[in-house]
This record gives sequence, structure tokens and C-alpha cells, in this order.
Amino acid sequence: MHSTCRLARVIVVRPVVHELPDGARVRLRFIAPSDRALLADGLARLSPQSRRQPFLVPKSSLSDAELSYLTEVDGRDRVAIVAVLEDEPSQLAAVARFVRDPQRPDKAEAAITVADTLQGMGLGRTIGVALADIAKATGIRRFTASLLGTNLAAHRLFRAISRRAQTQYAGGLAALVVELETREHPIVPAALAA
Ligand SMILES: CC(C)(COP(=O)(O)OP(=O)(O)OC[C@H]1O[C@@H](n2cnc3c(N)ncnc32)[C@H](O)[C@@H]1OP(=O)(O)O)[C@@H](O)C(=O)NCCC(=O)NCCS
Repeated sequence: MHSTCRLARVIVVRPVVHELPDGARVRLRFIAPSDRALLADGLARLSPQSRRQPFLVPKSSLSDAELSYLTEVDGRDRVAIVAVLEDEPSQLAAVARFVRDPQRPDKAEAAITVADTLQGMGLGRTIGVALADIAKATGIRRFTASLLGTNLAAHRLFRAISRRAQTQYAGGLAALVVELETREHPIVPAALAA
């Protein structure tokens, strides 16, 4: 794993493998600078509807600067996890990230995207819970997310991450604040670093 993820490397998240209903396995790991093509290709494969939510505009490609920003994270204030099918590691199954609020270090904006063909199979929940575990281990207590008001799957997903979620609606958008729950499970070392 890239050295900029030094802090994240000691953090442990589980599960790191998600099994799909057909038995296929999806592996979670931290994003790396070498994931530019994975990310660009993953965005290009998304349906217009799925592509719209993460940016709140129908974005279809990423600039070089955007790819650098999204893949070169510091493992503490900017963290991203990717998920790839074990049988097709060059195709992005899901990506989840948070960016810490510089004014409120216990708060971070979170975003999660699952490839269209893999939606509705629990992968969003798995990667979302993994992201929340890392966030908590770095001192983050709440996630914020700006969602389209009609995005039922995303609303449910954040409520699956934590039941303590509040939503404010304005002009078709929903501002979500999710208080991260403390869980009993110990964090298991080195799981995402493979
Ligand atoms: C939102 C998203 C990440 C959910 O990922 P997913 O893998 O499909 O979600 P999961 O299968 O883990 O399900 C999580 C919850 O969403 C619900 N859900 C999933 N797809 C749904 C759909 N099409 N309609 C309504 N609810 C849905 C599930 O029932 C589950 O809720 P539950 O725990 O109350 O049963 C995925 O739909 C996606 O990538 N959408 C486009 C990008 C996006 O909107 N990101 C959101 C935040 S930026």
C-alpha cells in the first residue's frame, strides 16, 4: 500500500471480502495512486443515474487533477476504499470515501458508489460499514452526505450504517447527518492492506 496511507494501514476493518449471492467474491482494499484507470473506467461504466449522485451532476469523466485528488489520499483526512471482484480485479465493483471537515475534525463528508450490476446485493453496506470503522478509528464521529432527495437506496444505506441519521430537505436535495455508532467488534489489524 502507498506510504501516504500510513495511518490507515494500521487500522483494521472487517469484513474485507464480501460474498455476492452467486458466490463471487469482492475484495476491499485501500485506494492507491495506481488506481487511476480503475476509477476512470469505473465511472465510465456507471449508468447516468448512478453517476449523477456522487457529483450531483451527470459527470462522465474525470480530469487528471481530479484523478490525482481521488487516488492520492492521505489515509487520515482523505480515505478511500475500493472493491474489486476477485475474478476481475481490473473492474471497479465499488468505491467509498470520506473527506474530513477541516473546521470540524470529528465530521467528514462521505460518498459511496457501487457498480450498477452489483447494486442491491449488500456491497454498499459492507463497504460503507468498513468506511465508518476507519472513520471512527481516526476520530470521526459523524458522516455528512448530500443526496438527491429521491435517492432511496442511498438513504437506506446510510441508515444501515447507523440508525442515528437525520435528514434535512431543501430544493430536492437532502442533507444527511449520520452519527457513527460505537460497535462492540474489535477492529482486526491489517485487513485492508493486502
Ligand atoms: C446507494 C448505493 C451505494 C447502495 O449500494 P448497494 O450495494 O446497492 O446497497 P445495499 O445492497 O448494501 O443495500 C443498502 C440498503 O439500500 C437498500 N437499497 C438498495 N438498492 C435499493 C433500491 N434500488 N431501492 C431502494 N432501496 C435500495 C437496501 O434494501 C438496503 O436497505 P435495508 O438495509 O433497509 O434493507 C448504490 O445504489 C449506488 O451506488 N448508487 C449510485 C451512487 C449513489 O447514489 N451513492 C450514494 C451516496 S453518494
